[in-house]
Amino acid sequence: MGYEVDLAFIQPLEQRPKLSINEAESIPLIDLSPLNSPNSDDPKAIAGLVAQIGAACSEWGFFQVINHGVPWDLRRRVESASKKFFDLPLEEKRKVQRDEVNPMGYYDTEHTKNVRDWKEVFDFAAEDPTFIPVFNKPGAHEIKLPSNQWPEYPPEFREACTEYSRGVQKLAFKLLELISLSLNLPRKRLNGFFEEQTTFLRLNHYPPCPSPHLALGVGRHKDSGALTVLAQDDVGGLEVKRKIDGEWIRVKPVPDSYIINVGDIIQVWSNDKYESVEHRVVVNEERERFSIPLFFNPAQYVVVKPLEELINEENPPKFKEYSWGDFFKARVNSNFKKMDVENVQVDHFKISV
Ligand code: OGA
Ligand code: NI
Repeated sequence: MGYEVDLAFIQPLEQRPKLSINEAESIPLIDLSPLNSPNSDDPKAIAGLVAQIGAACSEWGFFQVINHGVPWDLRRRVESASKKFFDLPLEEKRKVQRDEVNPMGYYDTEHTKNVRDWKEVFDFAAEDPTFIPVFNKPGAHEIKLPSNQWPEYPPEFREACTEYSRGVQKLAFKLLELISLSLNLPRKRLNGFFEEQTTFLRLNHYPPCPSPHLALGVGRHKDSGALTVLAQDDVGGLEVKRKIDGEWIRVKPVPDSYIINVGDIIQVWSNDKYESVEHRVVVNEERERFSIPLFFNPAQYVVVKPLEELINEENPPKFKEYSWGDFFKARVNSNFKKMDVENVQVDHFKISV
């Protein structure tokens, strides 16, 4: 309801995916239950798991996890609150819409004239005040005092979102530790970067699309943060670009699982060992789809560069260092102003040989 997009804006962008997708060739499914065992602090007890994570990160950049420890009830509550929110009339949702002052809140394709994506979205920061310093730095764009905006309806919305966010952050830290171990680094080597994290969550609603061959829910892109932890519903539509041959592979929905992908920051930290992989969302005519990514991002003062332990004479740094806060600020502003996002991709920090 209340979702109106002028079809004239929608341009055919990409080829439709091939129909014959061999699901055996899909992203790895990893069982995290070794983390729940009493001896999970013992590196030997989780060595097999660490090896699977390392292989998934280097071969796919994407994997799904089950037995992840996030209570099902948290997910059920946020999914129900998200549905109720997006069902509100447009004028109600626009009471909490993002603008040039505040990048958090609701937006739809019509409002931002982002003609590429067939969706509406609600963004909120995991730790609200951490966004402030990014935008208040001297010389920064005049975005000031952003903070989460919560709708009045449904009344349980704020609590459901906040509790869900806490639950999924715990999973994100576990994954970060497994990734650190898989790079032969100490388990908590990367944790310090997230002390004043700029993590945010996004509720996505992809309405049924009358001309699904002309639009995409989200066009091809890479995630610019460290890690993404995504809950998708049973409709499906997420596609991942397979590294070995560049084919678009559909990620089959697995009930109560999370889809994890490496973002640009882990690509830089690992000096290209784990590449951030392109993905997109295909829409369909019949069923609306909901998804909830958590974008696990470090503190704004973090300077992103290949980790010292992973570089040496044979393996010199492949990226110039950059400030996450400055990068993130530019990304938020460019999204708002509809500039070409490609201009702020991490490839710009790549050192050419
Ligand atoms: C994203 C994204 C996938 C999905 O928001 O960056 O890739 O399934 N979403 O909604
Ligand atoms: Ni993404």
